[in-house]
Amino acid sequence: MEILDLPITWNLEQILDDLAQHGFSVIDNAYPTTFAHEVLNECMDNLQKFRNAGIQNGVQSHIRSDHILWIDTQLEIAQQHIHTLKILSDALNRAFFLGINDVEAHFACYHTGEFYALHRDNPHGKNGRVISTVYYLHETWEEDWGGQLHFKDKNDVWHTLIPKPNRIALFQSDLLHEVQLAQQQRLSITAWLRNDQTIW
Ligand code: OGA
Ligand code: MN
Repeated sequence: MEILDLPITWNLEQILDDLAQHGFSVIDNAYPTTFAHEVLNECMDNLQKFRNAGIQNGVQSHIRSDHILWIDTQLEIAQQHIHTLKILSDALNRAFFLGINDVEAHFACYHTGEFYALHRDNPHGKNGRVISTVYYLHETWEEDWGGQLHFKDKNDVWHTLIPKPNRIALFQSDLLHEVQLAQQQRLSITAWLRNDQTIW
């Protein structure tokens, strides 16, 4: 089934306003519970394929210890989330002329004790990432389980966001942020709305 609209829980005006004013927005109860469970199941069914995100070209980085799986067309439920993000991208392009033309995404799993230290997803505009999005998949999250998304908004105000299930955090990819040490298994889909330049 082709979904042509954003889910009803997504208040587009609010999202646009939050992004314009603060550089971030939060969507709670993002999807119907049945869908949220399907994505969680797809994530869990594929956990054995996740790879250490800190290792690139055989070199281990110490700023992150999570495990990821890039989302391809085989991951059909996660693709529906990407599809929704493409509809959102069209709206963002109309409002802010961002030129977003691609969405890249991976599942992420933080085991107990894992974290992602302070970073920017698009430092100095070195890649095409415009907006970062994180959709939290685990079934429950308690206040004292750590794993918060801690970030500085566009007005230099710091925020701490609990990775509540079925919540989506959206923020400008140039903002400084970190994932604090998780004390339980923390599952998510990170997706970036990109404006890659086409070279003719
Ligand atoms: C990332 C990231 C934040 C989160 O994957 O780059 O910063 O809350 N994730 O998982
Ligand atoms: Mn990040």
